[in-house]
Amino acid sequence: MFSPQLSSFSSFFLSATYSPVASADRHPPICENPPPFPTSAPVSRPLAMSLEAETKSFVSKFEYSDEDVNKAVKEFLRQMGEGLEKDGTSLSQIPTYVTAVPNGTEKGLYMAVDLGGTNFRVCSIQLNGDTTFNLTYTKVAIPKDLMVAKTAKELFAFLAKQVELFLVTHHGDHFERHVRRRLTVSSPDGFKDENVFRLGFTFSFPVQQVGINKGTLIRWTKGFDIPDAVGKDVCALLQTEIDKLHLPVKVAALVNDTVGTLMARSYTSPGKTGAVLGAIFGTGTNGAYVEKLSNLKKPLTGEYDNSTGDMVINTEWGSFDNQLNVLPNTSWDIELDKTSVNPGIQMYEKRVSGMFLGEILRLAILDLLKNPKVAFFKDENSSSNDWKSTTHIAPNSSIYEQWGIDTAIMSVAAADNTPELSILRQELESTLNVYSPAHDDAQAFKAIAGAVARRAARLAAVAIAAIVLQTGKLTDPESKDEPIDIGVDGSLVEHYPYFRDMITETLRVIDGVGEEGAKRIRIGVAKDGSGVGAALIALVAAGMEKNTSTADYFRELRSSAPVTLTSVMEDDAADE
Ligand code: BGC
Repeated sequence: MFSPQLSSFSSFFLSATYSPVASADRHPPICENPPPFPTSAPVSRPLAMSLEAETKSFVSKFEYSDEDVNKAVKEFLRQMGEGLEKDGTSLSQIPTYVTAVPNGTEKGLYMAVDLGGTNFRVCSIQLNGDTTFNLTYTKVAIPKDLMVAKTAKELFAFLAKQVELFLVTHHGDHFERHVRRRLTVSSPDGFKDENVFRLGFTFSFPVQQVGINKGTLIRWTKGFDIPDAVGKDVCALLQTEIDKLHLPVKVAALVNDTVGTLMARSYTSPGKTGAVLGAIFGTGTNGAYVEKLSNLKKPLTGEYDNSTGDMVINTEWGSFDNQLNVLPNTSWDIELDKTSVNPGIQMYEKRVSGMFLGEILRLAILDLLKNPKVAFFKDENSSSNDWKSTTHIAPNSSIYEQWGIDTAIMSVAAADNTPELSILRQELESTLNVYSPAHDDAQAFKAIAGAVARRAARLAAVAIAAIVLQTGKLTDPESKDEPIDIGVDGSLVEHYPYFRDMITETLRVIDGVGEEGAKRIRIGVAKDGSGVGAALIALVAAGMEKNTSTADYFRELRSSAPVTLTSVMEDDAADE
């Protein structure tokens, strides 16, 4: 452990960052991360007590107690119930028309595209039928101007163009064959092409789904704002642009990334029962879970197979508690919301997901900077800086711009356990133009960033616990002692150190979950879940076109010979 010479200031930072304050007395802190060297951290300038006091006070504003957590779980369950009964509630609880989850034996070659937030991915996926898959993909950043384009067409034309580029690059033979046929085939009825790729479209925004490949956009999130697209069928928007380019691609399935993650987790990690929840903690946040059809009280308009008695529900939990009954609300949360493109909406997401955590931190840091009594990121002279220099921030530092702190630096801060916090200090310099930050500046930054992230993880546990409780698995004698499997994906769970540990730690203090329940909840990363999941749903869609129920189609595939793209296409031709 750190040496006792450390000031109370330093030990405060350590406890605020690494160990669970609220529950430390009850459970051993599992997030503790001892420093690699048994050296003491250097004391830089004489510690400015006001920075210590201010930082403590900032950190305390992000505390979300065990009691708060338990209250929030109850409210989450209440809002889930409300969403299952009627439309227009804050938790949308959208039926997805997917009624079964796979078990890892499904086979075939499919295409998937994924419009999630920052990037657009195009992939082809070979499902090998033995819980493994091979994935080929390309990824492009979505140009910022397209996120707020005047018309939906501009964005969707760009997406279709990426699909074309992918086909040319990775499936050139097939693409050329298709072009040759199109140019040479002439028939009185015009050109007909059955050799189509079935494409699963992962569209990670709230959509009112009315069928497996049909759904209208409810609202944009994560900084997108193209009013022209709201209320339109996003599959049709994509298909229209694909058709304009004459591509051999049929948009066969529409999938939220959480549904994809749930599918992918079930495919790659089979158990007696499939995964119960797929969740994303990335740019945005959301979860999809398996609900009993009998609990779904609102009317369903599309066709679906009711043989499993279940349906996957896309909760759209980013909008949990927009009314702020239980969510924490600091002055920085208020400021962030006010200046966002969608004030009053996605209130849970704005406290939990990667797009927003850096901005909450930035607003807090700005307040600390504005305080004239606090020596933060500034030195009187080089003698008060442990690197014998003077700290200053460039006037053009992105700290002064909205969204100017990328959440990624929070991961760097949490992971840096070097005695001098030299990695974080270098990062502050290279990404935020804070020159020669002193040790205690970095400590303050790390403590506040840690508090923002810890609150996010505790809130994440609220949603996970509520869904596990809703499924009844913890008390169901049939699944006694079975692990309760949850697939997660997204930059926070992937890159933020101990994010999952902090979730588990919080699950332990939740009524109805407790130590025993938390042990059974297995949270595993389903990397590339949205691509693989979309392929799996495209596969289900193929079954539905043949009038086979989802469950039957999964069953059929499990016992059938490998399906390849060629056989899928030949099958189609034979059907005509
Ligand atoms: C969207 C969800 C999506 C989540 C994660 C949210 O902003 O509303 O549909 O699943 O981000 O990507």
